[in-house]
Amino acid sequence: MNYGRLIDFNDSSDDFIEQIRMLSDALLRKDWKKAMLILDNVVPYCLDNNYMRFKTSLIKEINPQIYREFKHAKRVSLYARQLAKALTLSRLDVYAIEQSGFLHDLGKLIIDHRILYKDDQLNPWEWKIIQNHPRFGCELLSWSAHFKYLMPIVEQHHERFDGSGYPKGLKGEEILYASRIIAVVDAYDAMTCNRSYQRRLESGAAIAEIKRCAGSQFDPEIAFIFIESVLTDYNCSMFKKHQVITKEHIVERIK
Ligand SMILES: [Fe+2]
Ligand SMILES: [Fe+2]
Repeated sequence: MNYGRLIDFNDSSDDFIEQIRMLSDALLRKDWKKAMLILDNVVPYCLDNNYMRFKTSLIKEINPQIYREFKHAKRVSLYARQLAKALTLSRLDVYAIEQSGFLHDLGKLIIDHRILYKDDQLNPWEWKIIQNHPRFGCELLSWSAHFKYLMPIVEQHHERFDGSGYPKGLKGEEILYASRIIAVVDAYDAMTCNRSYQRRLESGAAIAEIKRCAGSQFDPEIAFIFIESVLTDYNCSMFKKHQVITKEHIVERIK
């Protein structure tokens, strides 16, 4: 599998920013093929924290919707990477899960911002459109040269462990392991950040909610490791190397 970059941007941010401008334009024209061609180029850079350090705010000037979704995607990818490491997955799996974290809500880029960021409660028709974002994401990914293999992970990131999720109502281990990882970290980020329709929760309240939903909404083992390993570490330092917890450790602690 090729995880490399197609093009090398120079030191100035001009090339990268130009690509974001072209992405914004392609989305506006509903040219999904072109949009994915650009994303194939820019995603590896977006995952590079050093490269992105001074570029995030530039995205805001070009397209506020891309900027908003970028920030959530970036946080979810960071949590997902830490959680995948704590679950002792292989290096390539960790990278695939980091990429999935970044691209899980890709489908939201093609939803009208008036629905996506609506302050009032969504009507049933609008809610249906929002619920289609995993499928929209897959549609976009089907045009990708590098990230097509993430389609099933993206499609299943709103499935719930008890079978009450969407789009297919998959249950327990029917849901891909990677999607169960994304589901936990995505929910934590959604709860701890302001959204147009809800106020953010403090970390402690969000952790209590994840514990409450472990076994119903979330895979209980994954939820446990996220709270016990990643969040403890993450609250100390976002990029600090985490403590690796073995499977035996998990079984011991869950008893
Ligand atoms: Fe989502
Ligand atoms: Fe999300």
